[in-house]
Amino acid sequence: MCYVPVNPITDLTRWLAKSIGLKRIGLLGCGAIGTEIAIAIDSGKIPAKLTHVFDFSKDSSQRLVSKLKNKPVITENAGLLAASPVDLIVEAASQDAVRDNALSILQNRKDLMIMSVGALLDESIFEIVSEGCKDFNKRVFLPSGAIAGLDSIKAVKNELESIVLVTTKNPKALKGAKFFETSKIKPDEIKGSTVIYDGTAEEAVRLFPANINVAALISLAGIGSSKTKVRIVADPKTNKNTHEIQASGKFGMFSIKIENIPSESNPKTSRLAILSAIECLRKICDGEIQIGT
Ligand SMILES: NC(=O)c1ccc[n+]([C@@H]2O[C@H](COP(=O)([O-])OP(=O)(O)OC[C@H]3O[C@@H](n4cnc5c(N)ncnc54)[C@H](O)[C@@H]3O)[C@@H](O)[C@H]2O)c1
Repeated sequence: MCYVPVNPITDLTRWLAKSIGLKRIGLLGCGAIGTEIAIAIDSGKIPAKLTHVFDFSKDSSQRLVSKLKNKPVITENAGLLAASPVDLIVEAASQDAVRDNALSILQNRKDLMIMSVGALLDESIFEIVSEGCKDFNKRVFLPSGAIAGLDSIKAVKNELESIVLVTTKNPKALKGAKFFETSKIKPDEIKGSTVIYDGTAEEAVRLFPANINVAALISLAGIGSSKTKVRIVADPKTNKNTHEIQASGKFGMFSIKIENIPSESNPKTSRLAILSAIECLRKICDGEIQIGT
């Protein structure tokens, strides 16, 4: 039998070195995605420390903190979150939150992970964020979200001639979108599978800001938001968030279909988007071999 000596001093030193080296994370937005990320950090799945959180709904921040063993500080506003002693801030709030806070986060010398990617299709916001990265030597991460295949889109972008995203959701998951403010279509009155939108990614993220972040990711990885086509289908019979991507060009073609289970706490958000955010942050926080493009 092999006897392994336990040296409490060495073990303590190792533990201290490990925990001192952990990245400190701030969280902007304590809803479906923010909560799951916080739990993944708290349970050790992501090797990091969640030290500060902010949500403009105090109830949401308090509810999230109540679920954690290691309690982060709830800041009074987003500015204080940006200025807090963290290494990286995860935005999981809204396009407005990106517009209002991305620059100040970078100016405060924090890296930033953005979930509300649709905000970056506004050229002025994109420019501010990318200039901010260069000026303050900071990095911005966009997880793959609720789709697969972004690596292939990036690889073929110079040979890509056409790319179409067809998204099918239950009308309940589309409710509240700006699109319905001016359209004759009412989500509660849709009876069968109906194409409710057919246009560009640029316009789709404006009309469906909380539903079609994947269109923004595809545009940024590929040939831009005016050349990326989007079709949105409302189907009262589906309980999935389905994304089909069809791409073709000199390289050949590919088509990818992802049938997502919606998150239990927010039907607009797919389970895969949450898992992808957790994996992206885990990859940033631990120094392992990077797999994939
Ligand atoms: N990249 C992707 O593939 C992908 C997938 C799903 C969702 N999203 C986006 O991620 C974001 C979060 O999604 P979710 O499912 O967690 O949403 P959610 O509605 O469950 O939670 C968002 C939380 O952020 C808070 N919030 C909103 N705006 C804020 C602001 N300006 N300042 C502070 N707090 C604010 C809300 O009070 C809420 O608690 C949304 O913008 C959503 O569209 C992206």
